[in-house]
Amino acid sequence: MRHEFFANRRNFLKTSALAGTALAGASGAIAQLASSSRPAKSDIAILRFLSALEQIEADLWLQYAELGGVRPESELKVPPKGNGPYTAALANLDTDMPQYINDNTDDEFTHHAFLNAYLESVGAKEVDLGKFATLNGSKADGSSGKKRLTNLMELTVDTSWWGRYRSSTKNPDLDPSFKFPQAVPDLVTNGPFTAIPRDNNDTKSKTQIQAIANTAAFHFGFIEQGGTSLYPTLALRANDPVVLRILLSIGPSETMHFQVWHDKAGNAVAPPFNVTFGKLSFPDLSPTAKPGEDLQTNLIMPEPCPFLDRKFPAVSIIRPVSTDPKIFGAVQAVKGFTDDGLFIGQSQAFFALINELAQEADQATRHCG
Ligand SMILES: [Fe+2]
Ligand SMILES: [Fe+2]
Repeated sequence: MRHEFFANRRNFLKTSALAGTALAGASGAIAQLASSSRPAKSDIAILRFLSALEQIEADLWLQYAELGGVRPESELKVPPKGNGPYTAALANLDTDMPQYINDNTDDEFTHHAFLNAYLESVGAKEVDLGKFATLNGSKADGSSGKKRLTNLMELTVDTSWWGRYRSSTKNPDLDPSFKFPQAVPDLVTNGPFTAIPRDNNDTKSKTQIQAIANTAAFHFGFIEQGGTSLYPTLALRANDPVVLRILLSIGPSETMHFQVWHDKAGNAVAPPFNVTFGKLSFPDLSPTAKPGEDLQTNLIMPEPCPFLDRKFPAVSIIRPVSTDPKIFGAVQAVKGFTDDGLFIGQSQAFFALINELAQEADQATRHCG
């Protein structure tokens, strides 16, 4: 376990993306790597959608980082110190949680800044959703109080990714209507629930703040498994080798995040922190409770499952990665985030733009090879 919270590479935030310099030097280097011809319009559409998605991720992760990440190196003039009770509840799941939250946050800012810098280097329009940051965030100690793009306080967290990665017989690409078991059914059926303290009243009860931290732990996994599937799915639509290289290089970093959060969420469904607060119960899914292989906490490696066709042997893979937009893709990812409650309060103009970017990405097709 690492406890050195503020490694040097984190200075990235101060010196580039959020400070507004936007990787100016990197653009030139990236341009040298790019093909002599500009990537096709369809490749640009993929990158523009992903840039928007990364800005959404950065916005939500910054909210988690302000309250649970403890980041004195922050770009903010008055660096937040985190919210004590929330940070403590997250630390119950793993004492490295503040570090991991910081690092995941920084990674999202770099993904967004890089994609915009690359788009600019090939003469394409970058994406900035900043004007849609109009939502109120947390009023609890630690929050900067700035306006947000995303809403973490009315979430309906789909935890079916937990059962999906444990299934040995079903694959969402082959079984799109199958309902995978939910790790925490209450998060889907009894919500909405907040994943951050809305104000200091939410931090008074230890059980309540633990339930909020546990909700966040499952939300971290929900967000990052989305990126884990989205990058390979869109890579299958890309043509330009540099665009493909970008997708194949950023995508696995989402998977690295997901795997960490998958492990940490397991601590929210094992004694003694699998709490019950009001309508929200975190069941005991630890091996001693014998919840079955489709739910057990320590089975976090992807279970081999059918892939492409059931005539082939089961294989350990990312899922879904379908290129059928009815099953998965950019539009489905936006729908998943919308159903999650992440955009509650957003304007029609925001939904129009994000859906247009998603549709254009899903229309991309691969013609070479
Ligand atoms: Fe990302
Ligand atoms: Fe991510």
